[in-house]
Amino acid sequence: MTSAIDNRLTGLKQKMETREARIGIVGMGYVGLPLSLLFSGERFHVTGFDIDANKVATLNAGGSYIVRILPAEIQAAQKAGFRATTNYAEIAQMDAVIICVPTPLDEHQEPDLSYITETVKSIAPHIHADQLIVLESTTYPGTTEEVVVPLLEVGNRAGLKVVRAAGETGVHVVFSPEREDPGNESVARHDIPKVVGGCGPEAAELAAAMYGAIFHRVVPVSSPSAAEMTKLLENIYRCVNIALVNELKQLCMRMGIDIHEVIDAAKTKPFGYQAFYPGPGLGGHCIPIDPFYLSWKAKQFDFRTRFIELAGEVNTAMPYFVIEHVANGLNEQCKSIKGSKILVLGLAYKRDIDDLRESPSLTIIELLRDKGAIVAYNDPYFPKVGHGRHYDLNMTNTPLDNLGQYDAVVIVTDHSSYDYKAIVEQSQLVIDTRNTTKGMVSPKIVRC
Ligand SMILES: NC(=O)c1ccc[n+]([C@@H]2O[C@H](COP(=O)([O-])OP(=O)(O)OC[C@H]3O[C@@H](n4cnc5c(N)ncnc54)[C@H](O)[C@@H]3O)[C@@H](O)[C@H]2O)c1
Repeated sequence: MTSAIDNRLTGLKQKMETREARIGIVGMGYVGLPLSLLFSGERFHVTGFDIDANKVATLNAGGSYIVRILPAEIQAAQKAGFRATTNYAEIAQMDAVIICVPTPLDEHQEPDLSYITETVKSIAPHIHADQLIVLESTTYPGTTEEVVVPLLEVGNRAGLKVVRAAGETGVHVVFSPEREDPGNESVARHDIPKVVGGCGPEAAELAAAMYGAIFHRVVPVSSPSAAEMTKLLENIYRCVNIALVNELKQLCMRMGIDIHEVIDAAKTKPFGYQAFYPGPGLGGHCIPIDPFYLSWKAKQFDFRTRFIELAGEVNTAMPYFVIEHVANGLNEQCKSIKGSKILVLGLAYKRDIDDLRESPSLTIIELLRDKGAIVAYNDPYFPKVGHGRHYDLNMTNTPLDNLGQYDAVVIVTDHSSYDYKAIVEQSQLVIDTRNTTKGMVSPKIVRC
């Protein structure tokens, strides 16, 4: 005989499968907005929550503030019922709530969970029984169980508890990491398997039903902590391997070997090797930050994560390595950084995206300015750059003409819209940190 609770669970799963479930997504940023469009594209009724009233107004006016998301996509979603709000009371109408808010580091390089805690405190008074709450923000193992669950349980009015075992009533809580790679068109979002770890088996089942409507494969793991750790393993793997090639690049340069030629040869091996590429330093919201969430948590277990620390050391030194090569290049032309006019090409942390969080360009510009250079930048994605958590630049985009006026042009982001051959032809000196001048022979090029 099936119980009322079993019936409710089956009903909710059916609502997910038939797209009748109402999905609330908290945080309309680089993760939450595309996710909203994915659900909306699958005919779900989606409500986007954000504390930024400007973003909410833009979305409700059918506009977009993320370059690769066209207003037409927002408008199509609106036709399917998508709208945005700052009003947390509407959480009560949702069948599922997915949290995609930032998880930065604070000034001491320690996890700043304030966005998660503020969000959970705001939604807790409005949650109801049988609702599915999913955290997607990248964080250390234990966050869902140790931070999210207690705040939900103390913050709701109805005395609801998180469901741990079959037959219990309450809210279902899951951690499911976001695996988006902005700008990467090679894998369709639907083809990226979705990992889910629930506080109880029913939570995982519900999340699998919801995400199964979007993603072709859902990968259940035994707990939220296992899912949290999965995301960190993926990002630490990238961080450590990028540090490895960044270090080997420096050795190769001393030995007169082209690291890119070596990587191209190594990646012909059909097994046991994955190519990572050196660059001017790490950027983005994930790779420079997430590993330190784990090293912080590891201390609680009296454990030192040496790979993470070493990789961090190598990667954060890369902008300084670039500056050294700018100085060397200018030196060859009997010039110094002080007083030189230098154009930095690319602010975004990687090619063809409009995201400059933690971008090495910001550090490179600041270091060049500190040394007395007169710095300009060009980036088609940023008409201007003001100040952020770690920078204060107040600059506007410089057109890509009259390159000969600069003592040096530093290629930091390899946007595909740049004509690198023309850049080399027109410049006095080019510092290439991304191998964009591959195959070109010119005394003006310094590769680093
Ligand atoms: N950007 C990526 O490529 C990427 C990839 C994988 C994982 N992640 C992770 O996803 C999470 C979100 O990242 P993002 O890049 O989307 O961040 P983002 O800064 O682009 O967006 C976050 C949004 O949350 C909103 N917000 C902040 N506090 C809020 C609150 N209390 N209530 C409602 N909204 C609030 C902000 O206004 C913003 O619109 C982070 O944990 C990040 O590490 C990001």
